[in-house]
Amino acid sequence: MLADRRTVFIETYGCQMNVSDSELMLGTLAAVGYEAVDSPDGADVILVNTCAIRENAEQRVIGRVGELKRSMKPGSIVGITGCMAQRLGPRILDQARHVSLVIGPDGYRALPELIARAQRGQRVTATDFDLEEHYEDFQPRRFDKVKAWIPVQRGCDYKCTYCIVPYTRGPERSRQLDDVVREARGIVEAGMTEVVLLGQTVNSYTDGTHDFADLLRALGRVDGLRRIRFTSPHPNDFTDRVIAAMAETPTVCEHVHLPMQSGSSATLKRMLRRYSREAYLAVVNRLRAAMPGLGLTTDIIVGFPGETDADFEETLSACRAVGFDDAFTFQFSMREGTPATRLPPELAVPADVVQDRYDRLVATIRGMARAKNLSLLGQRRELLIEKVARDGELLQGRSRDFKTVLVAADAAAVGGYLDVELTGTTGSTFTGTPVAPARPERQPLPLAG
Ligand code: SAH
Ligand code: SF4
Ligand code: F3S
Repeated sequence: MLADRRTVFIETYGCQMNVSDSELMLGTLAAVGYEAVDSPDGADVILVNTCAIRENAEQRVIGRVGELKRSMKPGSIVGITGCMAQRLGPRILDQARHVSLVIGPDGYRALPELIARAQRGQRVTATDFDLEEHYEDFQPRRFDKVKAWIPVQRGCDYKCTYCIVPYTRGPERSRQLDDVVREARGIVEAGMTEVVLLGQTVNSYTDGTHDFADLLRALGRVDGLRRIRFTSPHPNDFTDRVIAAMAETPTVCEHVHLPMQSGSSATLKRMLRRYSREAYLAVVNRLRAAMPGLGLTTDIIVGFPGETDADFEETLSACRAVGFDDAFTFQFSMREGTPATRLPPELAVPADVVQDRYDRLVATIRGMARAKNLSLLGQRRELLIEKVARDGELLQGRSRDFKTVLVAADAAAVGGYLDVELTGTTGSTFTGTPVAPARPERQPLPLAG
């Protein structure tokens, strides 16, 4: 007989879109009686929500899935979901005999039913794309209690030559503006004040009637919502309308994560990023002109096929020209099935050269972030307190321009706002001291008589 209390454990890899999908999966399973647990040991259902973006991301998951066999009890099932599931499909079932479920990102609606089939001993794969699927009626079970992820767009139509995402997540589609606004209102009612809009090229959002500018303005009118962020935008989709909406919506935070990938126009062309070095820098200038004090972070790939020393120097010089606050840096990883596999093999950059460029890029970014952060000392920031910091004593907060700040305050402050002066920096994160909030401007008193 089945125990009354059925439990599910989900382990999540990859980007915020995957985190958000895990929240949707937990929500739909909670609705049919599953309880989420935070250890795989003995859970009835163990799901690994995977990422396929780079080879090493996949290797990690493969190792972990092997390990999870030890957490299984009789009757437990292990399922692989997300981008690796989509990419490899039934190949996973052949390679891992203890896995009985393989479900791609558009297949989570059938999760309870697929789990039931696996529990009856079947081994199932569900990897069809569904261009209508937004899980609109799902109630996500959110992990974070302070900020909420809102997926507004799924899939990607860009097809950058290095990237597996268009093949693991299918074509681009956006949710209806009204549905997103309704979700944001619910998030405020649940006590959260920050939302992060998610999409692979989130600023190309369109529901057929409304664009991303409309979406930002509509969310800007949601009472009680204090901060709006979004990730990741594509440089080409920053229309004047979108930039104006950002600048004119007070709750849109002064931070943009703007993936550059390379500072060399020749490399960008082979990557099919659809912009040049100059065009990227021009977008940065337009954003900064509209939003003074804007924090800018980016993603950069080194060692893309054909990247020469001179191309790489252009990436370094573009980084310096922008003055990024931070960057995620990656060594190119060839993904099966992507257009990059068709580039002439002689264009491959030797591993030691890639490593050397990578080390130099990381050092450049670190130096740049440090200089920028030192220059901010003494300034004030409003923090949303996100959690108790790792040391267990200080609290960790986030400024509107995306700086991480540690501050001494009572744990009850988590989820609330605190004004601080930036008093110290490690080069990457800050310490801050609480200060009195900036006085709101006084309303003039109506004159008597
Ligand atoms: N949609 C987002 C990026 C999603 S993937 C965008 O367009 O910006 C996150 C980052 O992983 C990318 O920005 C890129 O820098 C990196 N990446 C993607 N594919 C990669 C590959 N094959 N090798 C190395 N890095 C890769
Ligand atoms: Fe990948 Fe390019 Fe789409 Fe981003 S825009 S998900 S990098 S194909
Ligand atoms: Fe990875 Fe899929 Fe996100 S490949 S980065 S989990 S969209």
